[in-house]
Amino acid sequence: MCGIFAYLNYLTPKSRLEVLDLLVTGLKRLEYRGYDSTGVAIDSPDSKNIVMVKRTGKVKVLEDAILEHFSGGEYSEPVMTHIGIAHTRWATHGVPCERNSHPHRSDEGNGFVVVHNGIITNYNDVKTFLAKRGYEFESDTDTEVFAKLVHHLWKTHPTYSFRELVEQAILQVEGAFAIAVKSKHFPGECVASRRSSPLLVGIKTKTRLATDHIPILYGKDDKKLTSDQDPDSGKPQVLPRSDSTSEFMPLEEKEVEYFFASDASAVIEHTNRVIYLEDDDVAAVRDGTLSIHRLKKSLDDPHAREITTLKMEIQQIMKGNYDYFMQKEIFEQPDSVVNTMRGRVRFDGNAIVLGGIKDYIPEIKRCRRLMLIGCGTSYHSAVATRQLLEELTELPVMVELASDFLDRNTPIFRDDVCFFISQSGETADTLMALRYCKQRGALIVGITNTVGSSICRESHCGVHINAGPEIGVASTKAYTSQFISLVMFALVMSEDRLSLQQRRLEILQALSNLADQIREVLKLDSKVQELAKDLYQHKSLLIMGRGYNFATCLEGALKVKELTYMHSEGIMAGELKHGPLALVDGSMPVLMIVLRDPVYVKCMNALQQVTSRKGCPVIICEEGDEETKAFSSRHLEIPRTVDCLQGILTVIPMQLLSYHIAVLRGCDVDCPRNLAKSVTVE
Ligand code: G6P
Repeated sequence: MCGIFAYLNYLTPKSRLEVLDLLVTGLKRLEYRGYDSTGVAIDSPDSKNIVMVKRTGKVKVLEDAILEHFSGGEYSEPVMTHIGIAHTRWATHGVPCERNSHPHRSDEGNGFVVVHNGIITNYNDVKTFLAKRGYEFESDTDTEVFAKLVHHLWKTHPTYSFRELVEQAILQVEGAFAIAVKSKHFPGECVASRRSSPLLVGIKTKTRLATDHIPILYGKDDKKLTSDQDPDSGKPQVLPRSDSTSEFMPLEEKEVEYFFASDASAVIEHTNRVIYLEDDDVAAVRDGTLSIHRLKKSLDDPHAREITTLKMEIQQIMKGNYDYFMQKEIFEQPDSVVNTMRGRVRFDGNAIVLGGIKDYIPEIKRCRRLMLIGCGTSYHSAVATRQLLEELTELPVMVELASDFLDRNTPIFRDDVCFFISQSGETADTLMALRYCKQRGALIVGITNTVGSSICRESHCGVHINAGPEIGVASTKAYTSQFISLVMFALVMSEDRLSLQQRRLEILQALSNLADQIREVLKLDSKVQELAKDLYQHKSLLIMGRGYNFATCLEGALKVKELTYMHSEGIMAGELKHGPLALVDGSMPVLMIVLRDPVYVKCMNALQQVTSRKGCPVIICEEGDEETKAFSSRHLEIPRTVDCLQGILTVIPMQLLSYHIAVLRGCDVDCPRNLAKSVTVE
């Protein structure tokens, strides 16, 4: 849930101030991953020490502190080779404060400094081990043990290389991590590794790289070479040691810059050539040479990691003329939904091809049931499309929150098909659920927005939703694109069902009009802003609907909670009389979605139940529906579309409403409190 960024320039002169600028910009791109405290580490002007600056709060606070701290001329001198590391944090162990901010250090002399994303679950054991050997801890974090463990290994194994030290430390820790380590004992070197948390290496060279692959160096069988005495028992504790072979040449460049980052958005302004590291890869740069190591080679391990070219454009990660990323992303939806369908839907031939799963369709058609699993907004996209999937696939469809699914040890069978829906592709709960289902032999389908993410790589097949980078923490365009991806899947599954052709045509027709209709809905912006002025001082907002629009109620309420810190509840209108009606009176703000679809009459009943308790709801209804509008003076009219796509048009006013309420309440729209976009802890 944190962002890590490291920058290494080799034979490319840069002043420390330039390096700091690069680090801070990198952190700004990663700020969505966590923003309660930040820190950087660079070399001191004489290059003999490491200097760190840490601050509680957002990257801007760190930026100001850096300006103050590094004003001396010595920091403007260019250095040929240098490594800087940086971090933006979302606290899991220890409150946000400077003491708990990264980088964490190994000792008072800053011998080794570490930035980390994830959780080291056995940190208490490692801490006890190190405490017995005289280490004192200065933070409440799990990360600090890693820095100190590397230091301990360095003292006990003076012949080890930097890479070997980190490798040995990784063998001792459990849990999830992406780490980057810098050391004053190994100047100009950087070692980074990952397990279950994302990490990539960006490579920038003057000329085009001669290779598209970085060979992996595998260790020979673990040699139990070294021992470390337990101070209590005096018994030797064995540490395995890797001994990498060098049958392949690693990437050697004369002048080169390397960027280690949690996410591609932090490197795209420097280079589009990246390597996505895999779990337990150890990437090390020494003398400007990048090599990737693994301790052991298993049968299906590849020989090399591919250097991929990012398709992302720099403008995609800039705010442009918008005040907030979230606002920009809401207004991008007419384009993002088209991008999700691009190259997949042929409106003239009424055909749909999902390249990433096409070979698996026969197997999916034979399955026992479909399971849709996700968290937060991604879970809501499953709720939104479940009914259509049931209708067009004629299969049982289960919709699950990943965390609850795991808590229940849900039975999974070989003939289940499990969809894992995740914008980031890194959400730990979803990823754990994926591994759980994969172990039990189910077919794994990933629906993600992040190429190269863990969920992408660990799925058997999948659909990239192609919504473009989503930077605002509250998900908007990813939701509508996930929704459309699942609708497209339902259409593919029903391609050869004669009885469903009319229905399919109706949906395809509606999909072709969707972008224009979203543009129409976005024109409601100023009306929604007025509505927000009525609502923003209230304590609560109830959002009611049913059928295809129930998911909008859940998603709308989540957006309001996330962004405005107001209480909000999405209520299934059918359940109103079973409890929630007690909340309704003349002062409780209520929003109801009442559209002309098969549940219209039932929604009207709910509307009457509310108005007869003096409730004065805001109604989202269809354009020109005078009969429904008559029930309230406040309404938002949306264009008519096919029932199963209504949820896309009704969620947009909810996104806009939560955005405007948040602005009026003075909340930080792109970085709401206590949240992170990529939740890589369970
Ligand atoms: C976090 C975010 C939510 C998001 C959820 C799932 O909790 O705050 O907004 O919906 O993660 O994220 P994913 O990347 O898996 O879609």
